[in-house]
Amino acid sequence: LGPRAASPDLGGRHVVVSAGGTREHLDPVRFLGNSSSGRQGYALARAAVARGARVTLVAANVALPDPAGAGVVRVVSALDLRDAVHAAAADADVVVMTAAVADFRPAKRVDHKIKKEAGVPAPVELEANPDVLAELVATRATRPSGQLLVGFAAETGGPDGDVLTLGRAKLARKPADLLVVNEVGAGLGFEVDHNAAVVLGSDGSTTTIERTTKDLLAHRVLDLVAARLRRDIS
Ligand code: CTP
Ligand code: CA
Repeated sequence: LGPRAASPDLGGRHVVVSAGGTREHLDPVRFLGNSSSGRQGYALARAAVARGARVTLVAANVALPDPAGAGVVRVVSALDLRDAVHAAAADADVVVMTAAVADFRPAKRVDHKIKKEAGVPAPVELEANPDVLAELVATRATRPSGQLLVGFAAETGGPDGDVLTLGRAKLARKPADLLVVNEVGAGLGFEVDHNAAVVLGSDGSTTTIERTTKDLLAHRVLDLVAARLRRDIS
């Protein structure tokens, strides 16, 4: 990382990174959650600091040391994360959404611990959470021009298509500038230190990042971000 760390190509930039996984509480002690560790987002925050950016890290339920030099805002639920990301995005040059945001939350949150004497509870009703990245895309005209929006998509492939097909469809639905399509499963992705990805650009570009550490993958993604910020200035 030596030469990269030495080149402050994100100097003067405000980079917002969301990381971790949201928790959607059923009662004060129970929640619907996911297994996102926050490692990739924390790696991005560290890499952005190393490249000279002012970094706001919106962290959802992450048990990792705070990256030195980043401002950390802790959140629990998707609704908390939405508020924190929108606030930080107001003057951001780049927003990177690595957080695994729950798509749904329990429609009701009970304010005391649910007790088993009451018997098996009724099925949990869910309601939709806002899609924060889609909101950022929809409202981008209200913020500094040239703001770059980066999404992450963890895909395993399935009956609806392979990882890349699903990634392209996601980018078409939610047109961020870059979508980092993460292959998960088989020693990749959640809760491990390595990742591989294909980065899809709204300009039609495709960049493959072979299996590497989450730190190096973060720098490769920021290479693409920095190139697009430069292109905007010129
Ligand atoms: N995202 C978000 N708000 C949500 C859900 C997702 O901002 N409520 C963001 C994630 O942070 C990520 C991107 O959208 O950057 C893609 O998330 P993903 O879960 O892969 O895609 P979805 O659009 O939610 O589609 P699905 O879960 O059905 O694959
Ligand atoms: Ca989702």
